[in-house]
Formats: sequence, structure tokens, C-alpha cells
Amino acid sequence: MLKFAPSVFAVGDGYQIIINTEGEAFVDIKTGGRLFTDDSNGILRSASSCHKFNIPAELIEGEKGYTVGVTPVTERKAYFSVTEKRIEYRYSFAPLPDDNIRIYHIADTHNRVDEPVRACENYGKIDLLILNGDIPEDSETVSNFDTIYDICGRITGGGIPCVFARGNHDLRGRAAEFHSMYLPDCGGCSYYGFRAGRIRGLCLDCGEDKTDDHPEYGNTVTCHGFRERETEFIRREARNEADSSARDSGYKLVVVHVPFIHRYHPPFDIEEDIYREWAALLKDGYKPDLMLCGHEHGYRTVYPGDDYDDYGLPCPMLVGSYNNGGVIGGAGILLSGRSAEITLTDSTGITGKFEIKL
Ligand SMILES: [Fe+2]
Repeated sequence: MLKFAPSVFAVGDGYQIIINTEGEAFVDIKTGGRLFTDDSNGILRSASSCHKFNIPAELIEGEKGYTVGVTPVTERKAYFSVTEKRIEYRYSFAPLPDDNIRIYHIADTHNRVDEPVRACENYGKIDLLILNGDIPEDSETVSNFDTIYDICGRITGGGIPCVFARGNHDLRGRAAEFHSMYLPDCGGCSYYGFRAGRIRGLCLDCGEDKTDDHPEYGNTVTCHGFRERETEFIRREARNEADSSARDSGYKLVVVHVPFIHRYHPPFDIEEDIYREWAALLKDGYKPDLMLCGHEHGYRTVYPGDDYDDYGLPCPMLVGSYNNGGVIGGAGILLSGRSAEITLTDSTGITGKFEIKL
């Protein structure tokens, strides 16, 4: 009845769990002594097979698990709808350890599923998955989102959290406007803060990678205004962080598909003013420990002040994905003390190892 294992996305201070059913069904989640239903003002939803829940972190982390209830709908009608017996699926959930946290980062899989799953298996057991954009090739239909749920479900089994950021290819196609309904969002926005154990961070979204009037988009995007609204969000986050006296000793990440601190060649040389401001706000206010990116289809490590850093990188940056035709690679990241031990893997095995000082 479940199409994939649940995806447990870290959004805000809690988790956004997404469940996909094979057919029409009502879905609920029980955890921490509470029942969460997928409903619209008291009406159980069944028209979409994608069901989304916001669950407070302390409930699922406290119980170290959750139970998904699925009630198949045989016939929905105004009176005497017919449903089947509710079926329960139990999932255990492992909160992040305090240190020696093992993460796998992947982006740019462009519809591939088996290769990124194998690449992650070649890193070994993980505590947190990061999917950083361009996981499907485009968003032509909502079924394209299945690539995301499938990779997430197969790697996490619904038992560990996942951090998700949108990539530029995700903006392309007729279902792109439904992205925030089917995938993690915070109040409809694809940029948001997240927390999982002692890791917290910002998922940012550069939108498309060329100007809005580029003929490839056929007048379908308005990313400049979107980025301006996102600047307001980053300003707030930077101010809150700068004012915060209760700073913990965990890890702060910025997860963003496009490595926006670099000036690309035309037609990709966009939004210098906005990206310089984002970099400055992060550097002076949010003060992240590590920035994780994809988009370039090749690995890269950049430190503030390097030649590649055009707009003021706030911290070390890892472009942690590789895509060369059929070969898909990601980056294992072991956070330990003030160091990130990076292990690059693809579906054939380990391809590189190095350390980033945080
Ligand atoms: Fe991309």
C-alpha cells in the first residue's frame, strides 16, 4: 500500500514526513502519544496519493519511531463512503548522535535511482541524508517527484532524517508549480531553516540559473522577485543568529544547490548584487560551518578567499556531487569535533578522501 518507505524531512524545528500510497487512501501517523491526520479542515484527504505531515521533533525522537496508518478508500461519495480496514506500518527512527555524525550528500542524479543508492551504500551506514537538488531531470509531471521519494526511501528506510533543497531543474515542467505541495516546504517556501539533533542550517534556493527572460524558460519563471523575498528571509535568519545568546556548540550548515558565491560565465552570470548580499549576511550574521552545494556535476572544495570565491564565501564549501553520464557520485561527510572528513563515493566504491577543517 505504501509506494515508498516514508521520507522524514528536517524542516524548521521539526520533521515533515511524506508518505505516498499506491491507491486512494487516508493516512495518519501516531507518535509520542499523539495522532496526526492528513486532513483539510476536518476532511480526510484521499484525492492525492501524497500525504504530508508536520511532526514535532521531540515526539518522534522521544519515541524513536512512529506508526503510519493507511485506510484504503474503495469508493468516496457524499454519503456512505466505502473504506477498507486500516493497516499499520511501524518505523523506528534514530535521532542523530551528538558527535561523529555520518552524512551522505548527493545532488544532480537527474532521474537515476540505483546509482546514487549504491554510491551511498559504498559509504556505509549514515545518520542523515542530504538531497541537494536536480534529483529528477525536471518536474514535468508530479510522478517525476517519485525519484526523490524512491532514493530517500531506499537509503533511509524512513528511519533517519533527510534534508532537501530544490535545484534549478526542479523548476522546469508543468508540475513545478506543485513542488511545495509534494515536497518539503515551510509556509509554501522552498527555503527554510532546519534542525536535526545538533545540526542545524539553512536550505537556500537560487531558483533558475539564468535570467528570467532567457528563451529556454519561455516566460514561465519569475525568480528575481523570488530571490528578493528570500533575501528578506536570510536577513531575518542572520539577525536572529547574531542576536542569539543561546548559541549551541553543534554544526551549522548551508545547503544550496547552486554554489552562488562564484561568478559563472554568461548566461549563468546572474544576480551578483543579491548573491553578494546573501554571502555577506551569512558571513557576518549566520556564521555557518560548512556550505554544501551541487549543480556543477563535479566535486570541488573552496575556502574563503580562494580564486573561485568571487562574492565572499562565508565558510568552507563542498560541491559534493558528481555526474558524468552513467556515473553518479556523492560525498560522505563525517562531522567530528571541528572537522569534516569527506569520503567521495560512486556506485563502484570509494573514489577520494580528504578533510575539511571547520
Ligand atoms: Fe543544477
